[in-house]
Amino acid sequence: MMQTGIDILTFLRQPGLEELSPCFQARKFPKRAEIFPPNYHEDMIFIVAEGRARLYLAYEDKEFALAILERGDVYSTHTRAHVSALEDSTLLCAPTALVRRHMLRLPEFTGTMVRVLGEVLRHSISIIDDLAFRDVQTRLARFLRFVAGQSGLPQPGGGLLVRLGLTNEQLASLLGTTRQTLSTMLNDMERAQRLELRGRGTFFIPDLAALDATDEAGSKPRRLASGGQNG
Ligand code: HEM
Repeated sequence: MMQTGIDILTFLRQPGLEELSPCFQARKFPKRAEIFPPNYHEDMIFIVAEGRARLYLAYEDKEFALAILERGDVYSTHTRAHVSALEDSTLLCAPTALVRRHMLRLPEFTGTMVRVLGEVLRHSISIIDDLAFRDVQTRLARFLRFVAGQSGLPQPGGGLLVRLGLTNEQLASLLGTTRQTLSTMLNDMERAQRLELRGRGTFFIPDLAALDATDEAGSKPRRLASGGQNG
């Protein structure tokens, strides 16, 4: 969620913008409308005048939230993001080529743009982080499950002791990740009580079925930036 963006009325009445201001045309969109698909055929810059718009990436059945634009926020149609209306919304749209000519005279525009792009970047990094970690987590859980099935020692109070006979370096390389990522992952899993480190290459697994439990179980502290309206 963004903070206050451009003050639209003051912005459009600025001296020196007599040529540009009339180029911002208001377009209205009802709640839930798909406003712009990625790389829309008209290259435009838009300012949210009313309502809220959601930015997201979509691949097949997955959506990755990038930001929620509020009144005064700016964005453009020349990106790979989808833009949809969270509420009945009005956007002021102007051709990018025209805005470009006035960019140097628009410090508040540039400031807002940097903040919006910062928000998009923050979500993008979360998405990368999440995808990378989720992948390693799945591979690690699958591997531990396999070894536990082969040679896990049932413990008197329940659970299994698994001796991998591998250093973290070797395990990381086996899983196709780095030692740092693996150890963050192991620490996360230990915090979530899905395993306990019992010395080098040895793990106690209280519940094999819960090894790769989903985020809803609170097993993964990282913020999930994918899937739905969590901008
Ligand atoms: C007059 C202003 C602007 C000009 C001249 C401009 C120009 C460009 C150009 C030339 C690209 C590369 C496009 C490509 O690789 O095909 C680009 C990419 C991009 N622009 Fe702008 N831009 C402007 C304003 C904005 C604004 C206001 C935003 C958002 C706040 C924005 C967000 C982006 C993003 C996110 C990309 C990467 C697109 C992607 O690959 O998905 N731009 N811009």
